[in-house]
Amino acid sequence: MTFKIPKGVFDILPYALPTEENWKDSHKWRYVESVIYQLCTLFGFEEIRTPIFESTELFTRSAGHTSDIVTKEMYTFLDKKNRSLSLRPEGTASVMRSLIENHLEVHRNEIKLFYIGPMFRYERQQAGRYRQHHQFGVESIGASSPISDLEVIHLLASFFQAIGLKKFSLLINTLGDISDRVRYKEALQNYLKPHYQELSEESKIRFEKNPLRILDSKDSKDQAILQEAPLLDAFIGKEARAHFEELLCQLSLYGLSFTLAPQLVRGLDYYNRTVFEFTTESGNAQNSLGGGGRYDGLLASLQGPSLPAVGFGCGLERIIRSLCLQEFSFPITKKPVLILPIEEGKNAALSLLKKLRQKGIPASYNFSEQKLKKRLQNADKEGFDYILLIGPDEIAKGICQLKHLPSSTSLELSLLELETKLSTLSDFDPCQPLLYFSELANQIRQTQKPT
Ligand code: HAM
Repeated sequence: MTFKIPKGVFDILPYALPTEENWKDSHKWRYVESVIYQLCTLFGFEEIRTPIFESTELFTRSAGHTSDIVTKEMYTFLDKKNRSLSLRPEGTASVMRSLIENHLEVHRNEIKLFYIGPMFRYERQQAGRYRQHHQFGVESIGASSPISDLEVIHLLASFFQAIGLKKFSLLINTLGDISDRVRYKEALQNYLKPHYQELSEESKIRFEKNPLRILDSKDSKDQAILQEAPLLDAFIGKEARAHFEELLCQLSLYGLSFTLAPQLVRGLDYYNRTVFEFTTESGNAQNSLGGGGRYDGLLASLQGPSLPAVGFGCGLERIIRSLCLQEFSFPITKKPVLILPIEEGKNAALSLLKKLRQKGIPASYNFSEQKLKKRLQNADKEGFDYILLIGPDEIAKGICQLKHLPSSTSLELSLLELETKLSTLSDFDPCQPLLYFSELANQIRQTQKPT
C-alpha cells in the first residue's frame, strides 16, 4: 500500500516542486518567517508558542457557538479519558488561555505577543483554503487606545512591505460596542423578516443565531436584499465612534491608506469596535491575506482579567503565493561549498569539512564511488557553486582545487593558506549570520591566480 497525503494539506519542500506550486518552497517560507522575527523584534512583540490542541470548549466559547469555525470546521476528538479536544482553528483563543493560566499580565503592563504556527479547519478544498494553514498572528493586550489598533495594523502593513508584497489594500470597519450591536441586530432582523423566504439557506440559519453574519454572505440574492438594509454605522455609540475616528485619523497621519468597509463583520464572534482585513488580487475568491480587530471582552468572558485587546492573524500560504504570483525574486539561499575527495584525499577532506563547519561556513560532501566527471555533473545539476577537490595529487602538492561551477573557473589553493585563513575566523556563533564560503574564496582568489 502506498500512502498519500490527506486532502487539503501539503508538504513544504526544498526542491522538486512544479512551477505552479513553487510557493511551497521551504526557502521561501524561511525568508518570510525570518522577516517576521526581525519585524516583531523591531515592534517589541515577544514570541508565544501554544499547543496545537486545546479543550474544545475554549474554541466554542471564544469563536462563538454559531460561527462557521465551530459549527462546521473544527477537528474535534475524544482522548483516551473521553475529554473533548480540538485542533486549534485559530490562535487568539489559545493565547488568551495561556495568558490567563500563566498570569502573563502580572509581568507586563502591555502584553505584546506574536506567534507563527499551523491552524486546522475542515474547509472545502480549493486554492487558498487548506485544512492545515499557517498563521502569523499578534495579540496586543492591555491598552484600549486606538493607538494600539494603529500599531498592529501598521505592523501587518510593514510586514507586507518588508517581504516585498506589492498589491494589498486595507479594509476597515467598526462594529461598535456590544450594546450598539444588540440594537443593530434587532433592526436588521426587523428589516430582513419580510425577505426571510428569499434568503439563501445559510442566511436563513444565520437569521436567528447571528444575523450580522448575513452581511458577509457571498450569495448575490442576499446581497441584493441587503442593499436597503439599515447600516450598522447608524447604531454606533459615541465612544466607539470617537475611537474609530481617532484611529482613522492616526492611520492617515501614518500614511496608511484604507477603504471603509461597512459590510465587514468578520467570522469570529469575539470582536468589538475595530475590525480590519488586508486583501489582494489573488485570482481566486480567497483574497483575504489577513485580518483582525479589537476584542475587549474576550479575556473576561474566559474568566481572565478584564483587559482590552487587539490583534490580527494572516495566512502565510496566501501571502507566499501572492509573492510568487507577482514574480517576486526571493533572496537566493546559497548552497554549501561541496567537498569532493578523490581516493586518499578522504582524511584531508573530512578534516577540512569539520573546520569549515566550525567556522560557520556551510559545507557538504560527496564521498561517492562514481567517476569524478559524473560527480561534478551531479554537483552542477544540484546547483552547487563552489567545489573543493582533494585527491592524491593535490595532497602531494599541499593544495586543493577550488572550482567555481557557474563561471567554469578553477584555481589551486594552498591547503596551508586556506587553513591559516580559516584560523583567523572566530568559531561559529549560531547567533550570528553565517559566513559564506564565497567571501572566503574571494579573499583567497585575490591572492592567487586562476590556473
Ligand atoms: P481569520 O480571519 O479567521 O482570523 O484568519 C486569519 C487569516 O488566516 C485569514 O485572513 C487567511 O489569510 C488565513 N486563513 C484562514 N483560514 C484559512 C484556510 N483554511 N486556508 C488558508 N488560509 C486561511 C483569525 O484566525 C483571528 N484569530 C485573527 C485575529 C487575531 N484576530 C485578533 N487576533
